[in-house]
Amino acid sequence: MAIRPVLKMGEPLLQRVAEPVTGFDAQLLELLADMDDTMRALSGAGIAAPQIGVSLRVVIFELADNPRYPHIAPVPYTVLVNPLVTPVTAEQDEGWEGCLSVPGLRGLVPRHRRVRYRGYDQYGAPLDRTVEGFHARVVQHEVDHLDGILFPQRVRDLRDLGFEDALAGRMTPMPD
Ligand code: NI
Repeated sequence: MAIRPVLKMGEPLLQRVAEPVTGFDAQLLELLADMDDTMRALSGAGIAAPQIGVSLRVVIFELADNPRYPHIAPVPYTVLVNPLVTPVTAEQDEGWEGCLSVPGLRGLVPRHRRVRYRGYDQYGAPLDRTVEGFHARVVQHEVDHLDGILFPQRVRDLRDLGFEDALAGRMTPMPD
């Protein structure tokens, strides 16, 4: 287990489509332990394997009850391997996202309000959930990483992308 360096926007590996996981083995558990350590060390709400330099389709996320975000419902700790996300409504919400790979920046990103996601946990057990709100947002953000997409690519108007301190007056930050 180790805290690993997080790759930043501009690194080619973050722009790649990650490979599916083919074995639920000790190597996967080791990767997940490193992702977990790194996410917690940086107080992130989620992290994808490519962010620590491993181009595999693995993400984790969690939002514990946090007084900084009283308006956001907690999200259970989730390990998601080889995920498939499908919108269940056409409705979208905009939210101010951040990312451990894009430190200091925030952007207004539209996401589907409700999504269904399927995949596997670390032991290969299937997962199938339909979620909404921040839970739906975080899974869309993390799974985007597996397709080489970072949140600034989802910002519709680049005036809605900027530095967190400069934006302070006009945004409600979300966990990143
Ligand atoms: Ni991110």
